[in-house]
Amino acid sequence: MAEYHFDNQVISDTGRNRIIYLDNAATTPLCAAAREAIGRLLRESFANPSSQHREGREARSRIDAARDAVAEVFGGDYSEIYFTSGGTEADNLALFGAMMAAPSDRNHLIVSAIEHHAVLDAARKLEKWGRKVSYLPVNRQGVVEIESLNSAITDRTALVSVMHANNEIGTIQAIEELAAVAHQYGALFHTDAVQSVSSMPIDVNRLGVDLLSFSAHKFYGPKGVGGLYVRKGIAISPLMHGGSQERELRPGTENIIGIVALAAALKWTSAHRERDIKRIARFRRRLEDRLEAISGVSVNAKAAGRLPGIVNISVDGVEAQSLLLRLDRMGVAASAGSACSSGALEPSHVLLALGYNREEASQCIRLSLGRYTTISDIELASDRIAEAITAIRKTGSKI
Ligand SMILES: Cc1ncc(COP(=O)(O)O)c(C=O)c1O
Repeated sequence: MAEYHFDNQVISDTGRNRIIYLDNAATTPLCAAAREAIGRLLRESFANPSSQHREGREARSRIDAARDAVAEVFGGDYSEIYFTSGGTEADNLALFGAMMAAPSDRNHLIVSAIEHHAVLDAARKLEKWGRKVSYLPVNRQGVVEIESLNSAITDRTALVSVMHANNEIGTIQAIEELAAVAHQYGALFHTDAVQSVSSMPIDVNRLGVDLLSFSAHKFYGPKGVGGLYVRKGIAISPLMHGGSQERELRPGTENIIGIVALAAALKWTSAHRERDIKRIARFRRRLEDRLEAISGVSVNAKAAGRLPGIVNISVDGVEAQSLLLRLDRMGVAASAGSACSSGALEPSHVLLALGYNREEASQCIRLSLGRYTTISDIELASDRIAEAITAIRKTGSKI
């Protein structure tokens, strides 16, 4: 069995069978700091943090320390951090929570057309429930232009939600300016920062956001835990009821293992971020140069400000699904923005929003680098991708 190479964990299989993981936007491996935090917690504590006895209070103090650490990294206050089961729940809590708590004369929601489904599907549900929803277009580089927000927003807008950076093409949005426009109209501003936390410093005050979603497994923490920053004084309604945890905004016994590991991973990620970003950006340039040397391959949204680790490429005449299957067999883990629904592959809504037609959108794959990506991964992956494209073009085979 092939083994992965991460953070002093098992390293083997350096030859032809080596697996190259270029899917860090889907999830990142657990870092040593998070692994150690989990081990420590499992050894030292099992109590319910809501219990009044000493063990319970001790467990509570671990959650408090984690909340402090998260607030410090994001520049917020301890009382503004709410833990959830991940990015999806945080996005849902932001949208439903803010729209349900909004005054009755503010029933308008604005989201960008390239949001993650956690935001888009929540917006569609709110639309079904009678809220008015506007979907902001993006330009060919995947950027929301300020003018489009200016023309969609009114004094009936309750909430604007635009993601910090896109998970498929990596485009970074001008959050500070967009939030300022929202505030001029008295609307709240939410950003989904799930993809950006690992690659960009996040300061909620500098960004000027009221709500910000994050998810541990995108910054080398465990899956199934994340959170929502909620600026002090902002009213949002809970989605669940039944307990006073997380100041009644997110009831239910806390996932203490996940929360403690999230904080450890976040501290560790932000301490290493600057150095990691530089290296990852350098590797991405190399990868892009090598891929663009293949005929009919181009990098999507190349002119936009992008996260350092995400490369989305178009491969003329090659179905993404065939390429991904072949790469998988060759030991390169990558992905496409397509979602599989009832057996049919739907082209990415993000690429369609950029103006690609369905055929063009079905010929794109995403390669995403992370802190454990090495330069030899890049060289090997480029060779294998070139080989796979040539083979598909030659045989015309689907797989
Ligand atoms: C931009 C973005 N938002 C939200 C999510 C959902 O986060 P989670 O997997 O923690 O539910 C993802 C995950 O892919 C994402 O990329």
